[in-house]
Amino acid sequence: MKKKITIGGEKKEEKIKVESSARSQGKTENTAGLSRRDFLKATAAAGLSVATGKLFGGPLLLTDEGKAKVVMPSDELRVAFIGVGEQGRILLDCCLRIPGIKIAAICDIWEYSRTYASGYAKKYGQSPNVYEDYRDMLNSEKDLDAVIVATPDWVHAEHTNACLNHGLHVYCEKEMSNSLEKARSMVETARRTKKLLQIGHQRRSNPRYIHAIEKLIHERQLLGRVMIAYAQWNRAKADMLGWPKKFTIDPQTLHKYGYGSMEEFRNWRWFRKYGGGPIVDLGSHQIDLFSWVFRNNPKTAVASGGVDYYRNREWYDNVMVIYEYDTPEGVARAFYQVQTTTSHGGFYETFMGDNGSLVISEVPQKGNWAYREAHAPDWEPFVREGLILSEAPPIQKVETRNVFVDVRVTAEAGRWPLPVELAKPAHQPHLENFFDAIRRGVPLNCPAELAYETAVAVLKVNEAVRTKSLLRFRPEEFKV
Ligand SMILES: NC(=O)c1ccc[n+]([C@@H]2O[C@H](COP(=O)([O-])OP(=O)(O)OC[C@H]3O[C@@H](n4cnc5c(N)ncnc54)[C@H](O)[C@@H]3O)[C@@H](O)[C@H]2O)c1
Repeated sequence: MKKKITIGGEKKEEKIKVESSARSQGKTENTAGLSRRDFLKATAAAGLSVATGKLFGGPLLLTDEGKAKVVMPSDELRVAFIGVGEQGRILLDCCLRIPGIKIAAICDIWEYSRTYASGYAKKYGQSPNVYEDYRDMLNSEKDLDAVIVATPDWVHAEHTNACLNHGLHVYCEKEMSNSLEKARSMVETARRTKKLLQIGHQRRSNPRYIHAIEKLIHERQLLGRVMIAYAQWNRAKADMLGWPKKFTIDPQTLHKYGYGSMEEFRNWRWFRKYGGGPIVDLGSHQIDLFSWVFRNNPKTAVASGGVDYYRNREWYDNVMVIYEYDTPEGVARAFYQVQTTTSHGGFYETFMGDNGSLVISEVPQKGNWAYREAHAPDWEPFVREGLILSEAPPIQKVETRNVFVDVRVTAEAGRWPLPVELAKPAHQPHLENFFDAIRRGVPLNCPAELAYETAVAVLKVNEAVRTKSLLRFRPEEFKV
């Protein structure tokens, strides 16, 4: 049995502590995800000496292959953020772990977000300029390389297009937009300006997903013919988000930026003007994987859903959708559901073939293993190659106080765990791919054209729910 492969350093994921000293003294895992020992080995192998105190501020950049190279001043990327709410702050945290990323500016219309994010960046020795309006930021900041857009979906196109037109590369969060017309404009602007546009479907850069889909399912056909996919994102019921009252935005400012009220501003996901509802918000990550696995976009969709539980929310609080795909092996179907009144099962994706199934989730405890059908070819050769780990046998018998229950007939097959782990925050590899694309020209893992195809498959579900009719996709609909 081969050892687990851990991408990104020590197996245990390390959280950034809000203390500047740990990072600058090189006490933590280094920001390229290698252990400090590996980092030093790599620098030594490259013939470089490292003064410990300079480990993070110093002139070194680690490549993904664990090699060290000198960061020339031109390798430093000056990055700005537009939107530093929940997700913007997660991306900021990731950027603080990546060598050579200078957080030059932070823009957000909400003082609460601006203050929190800029304070966080300062704890790591960064000193971003802070702005309320992105137009002021673009006018004032003269030497930016890239912008990370993590605002609500409805303003992605405005922010992304402005930055691209300003000559900047952009990493924009999913969903590209809540309107396909606006999403299309983003693809067109990226093409015209010849700037990079990465969309934040971060599973596309996750080594666990790449191993599962590209290596096991596509290349080695571990599951045989995959005809069925199932994915879900179930969340417990939750109230609308509130806000600290001393950070209430005044009505003129809300109005200036297009928000009707503080409640809409905080809960934009539930309103048609600003978002696409749970199916778009959560489904976009997982429906994207269906196309990746089936190597095609869907040809039809039927869906059902409604605003059945909550009051004062515009978007469907539950949706179930079935897609049909033409794959190189024949027809396949995928069933997806998003629920906001139960956390049953959480979120994960399953791909089912005639020789086996694979369960995967961004949270590995929820899925990171395969099941083998009894008739399938022997999987031990895959184990010997290190592609999967040895089968963990299922529980065969259960003993209770009075009865002896034999559950052999119903017990599911044993799990064959996947060997790849990611010891970095889930979004970091996707950002690294973006920065590598800027620095070294590597291909983006989720360029705007690809994300647009997913946006079509996802945003159209709301139409299928509304019309209660079979939706037929034309292949040309997915292209800009
Ligand atoms: N990839 C992922 O896993 C993931 C996870 C969560 C959210 N997201 C995406 O990230 C984006 C942000 O989501 P969130 O959860 O952080 O929302 P949020 O409401 O927590 O944060 C949005 C931030 O944008 C700011 N903002 C709003 N309008 C603005 C404007 N016109 N100019 C500047 N700032 C503005 C708000 O003040 C707020 O700070 C969304 O597109 C969402 O779909 C992605």
